[in-house]
Amino acid sequence: MTTVDLPLLPLGRGRDVASERGVECPGDLPAASDPGLVARARAAKEALGERVFVLGHHYQRDEVIEFADVTGDSFKLAREAAARPDAEYIVFCGVHFMAESADILTAPSQRVVLPDLAAGCSMADMARLNQVESAWEALAEAGVQEQVVPVTYMNSSADIKAFCGRNGGVVCTSSNAEVALEWAFGQRGEGEGKVLFLPDQHLGRNTAVLKMGLELGDCVVWNPLLPGGGLTEAQLRDARMILWKGHCSVHGRFSVDVVRELRARDPEIQILVHPECQHEVVLEADLVGSTEFIIATIEAAPAGSSWAIGTELNLVKRLADAHPDKKIAFLDRNVCYCSTMNRIDLPHFVWAMESLVRGEVVNQITVDPETEREALVALERMLALPGKTHRD
Ligand code: 13P
Ligand code: SF4
Repeated sequence: MTTVDLPLLPLGRGRDVASERGVECPGDLPAASDPGLVARARAAKEALGERVFVLGHHYQRDEVIEFADVTGDSFKLAREAAARPDAEYIVFCGVHFMAESADILTAPSQRVVLPDLAAGCSMADMARLNQVESAWEALAEAGVQEQVVPVTYMNSSADIKAFCGRNGGVVCTSSNAEVALEWAFGQRGEGEGKVLFLPDQHLGRNTAVLKMGLELGDCVVWNPLLPGGGLTEAQLRDARMILWKGHCSVHGRFSVDVVRELRARDPEIQILVHPECQHEVVLEADLVGSTEFIIATIEAAPAGSSWAIGTELNLVKRLADAHPDKKIAFLDRNVCYCSTMNRIDLPHFVWAMESLVRGEVVNQITVDPETEREALVALERMLALPGKTHRD
């Protein structure tokens, strides 16, 4: 049995720079009870003016989203970061892998700040570079490495993106996974290609089977905690999609049971889910897509229509508040926030912004130049993909 090399770190304490998680927030944060926080955030933003650009992922809390210059899914935010060469500071209200990607896509003089360094992503932590390199080695031993194109979901650390860059692969997000897979399979001869999909098995499987027409039997799951990934060489040779055994613990909660219960209660209800949900749930859903797609779908829906949404709760609540004329429910019986997205709160935001006003750059996210160079190759391949997202 292979040992797990992740130290146990309570969120927000301790230090583990090689992972997406748990590093200490070094500053003196304002108290969450400070009634002046909103005014302080406004004042800091005004003082910084054009020097700062604030990006907010759709899963952020309302109190933070209010200060975002742009909100978006990870694809849109990556593009927006790359399109702001004049901003001295990019304050990224999202999670660590998104801020890393922004650092890679911006000029060296621009500084990317993540208001709380503990805002990682547990899914991204499920693929570590040494584990991915062992899998790559095993593919060589099985005699299939040359057929394989690695594709990593944006939700991965910069060194995994760099691995894809140096091995002819690409990055994808939930809004362009289909075009990225088309590109990847197109890199090899007709019917020859295989994809190693990192780290979200669900996005990989859902895209391969529901969009690319592959069979479930064409997919195998590589378990990094088992010798040889738990697969035989024959399985690796036969597979078209080698899915990494990673998942999102938030989206993993949505179940077929609840879908059926809601449909029984309201036959008109439409089920709208993110592709990080399990395959069985996506099969039962009416529509599947990225956070940006989910928002666009609800915006275009007629008044009186009824929806259950399977994605993070901050976004679902915001959609319900913004569309009181539509019935919007959460697709889980329990409350289910992304705990790391929620690390970015108003006290951290105010602290990061006021520090910038004083000329002090806190919680800067920097990717080392070699990793950055190779990761940029994979990110630029993604940005150059034909513009077909599942919104088109
Ligand atoms: P989107 O790219 O759809 O915003 O998803 C990012 C994410 O982390 C979902 O869990
Ligand atoms: Fe990661 Fe899931 Fe949170 Fe998205 S919702 S940032 S995949 S843990």
